[in-house]
Amino acid sequence: MARSVNLAVIPGDGIGPEVVAEGLKVLHAAVPGDVKFEITEYDLGARRWHRTGETLPDTVLEELRGHDAILLGAIGDPGVPSGVLERGLLLKLRFAFDHHVNLRPARLYPGVTSPIQARLDERGPDYRVDFVVVREGTEGPYVGNGGSLRTGTPHEIATEVSVNTAYGIERVVRDAYRRASARERKKLTLVHKTNVLVHAGGLWYRIFQRVGEEFPDVTTDYLHVDAATIFLTTDPGRFDVIVTDNLFGDIITDLAAAVTGGIGLAASGNLDVSGANPSMFEPVHGSAPDIAGTGKADPTATVLSVALMLEHLELTDAARRIEAAVAADLAERGGQQRSTSQIGDAIAARVAG
Ligand code: NAI
Ligand code: MG
Repeated sequence: MARSVNLAVIPGDGIGPEVVAEGLKVLHAAVPGDVKFEITEYDLGARRWHRTGETLPDTVLEELRGHDAILLGAIGDPGVPSGVLERGLLLKLRFAFDHHVNLRPARLYPGVTSPIQARLDERGPDYRVDFVVVREGTEGPYVGNGGSLRTGTPHEIATEVSVNTAYGIERVVRDAYRRASARERKKLTLVHKTNVLVHAGGLWYRIFQRVGEEFPDVTTDYLHVDAATIFLTTDPGRFDVIVTDNLFGDIITDLAAAVTGGIGLAASGNLDVSGANPSMFEPVHGSAPDIAGTGKADPTATVLSVALMLEHLELTDAARRIEAAVAADLAERGGQQRSTSQIGDAIAARVAG
């Protein structure tokens, strides 16, 4: 069926444009001929801020809203004060478009060596690490519900209040159950800190139990976040789907990325699963100013983010082909040194062939 997709692309700063170019190369190789991607590029990020002082003008926000999806490279450089682009652009997009599901797959591909490889090998040849973290994206301590008094004095007071709503928790928990139910192992682990954060934790736990009654096929588990960090580094294969709040999710997904082969491979999606707003897909890494312009950036995380995007757009076959091409490329990668575009070319060739 002929179809057209309106895609907004924000290449951003540093290696952002370099990896996005390869992501789009693979996208074009993967999508069937009757699906037309109409691409509009948006110049947002550190370069624009330096030039104009703007982070995300309202007119641009409204234009972005009219798209089917957004692909983002990376934003930021050392010359921008901390928080300006995080709050003024990245978090603003997340809140404006109600990106309540932050999706981060963590899969150790054959051929990729984990920093805990020796431990994993002890568990035998069939041991697999393949899980997905569903992180709440619009609540918790990230809502900007805080302030400071007597700032800069020895008596300064600072608050950063975590906001947890039954509505916000329920929708992300239900999404996590759905994802678990669609996977082979059908296992969902709630990660929180219910023993200390009793109010927020109690709400999360009760909703987790109640929504679970709708998914009798899903096995459930609960871990305190500190215990979860231990298992992520000793037995990550025990996880299938993890659901957790915004802050815990931010931290454990970086750990999960490190365990499964590092920042060059970690993909993510910021989803409004209701479909009312465009979802946004991006590699987990930043703009890597230390290697920008050298051709050393690994575009694989962006390519895998494109696959997540195609899956979200229900172009499932194209998404699977990209994942298979990445898996095949990684399996043969070994120690060879290839440039950003050589890796993109190789994956695109496998997708097309
Ligand atoms: P970073 O992820 O940019 O870099 C950390 C280290 O990983 C660097 O040594 C870099 O060379 C390496 N690296 C990152 N991506 C790579 C890739 N694709 N291939 C090979 N090596 C890669 O994090 P850092 O240095 O803390 O931040 C740099 C800038 O990026 C900052 O301005 C920061 O605010 C911004 N940033 C933006 C994010 C976003 O746009 N969502 C996320 C994280 C950081
Ligand atoms: Mg992070």
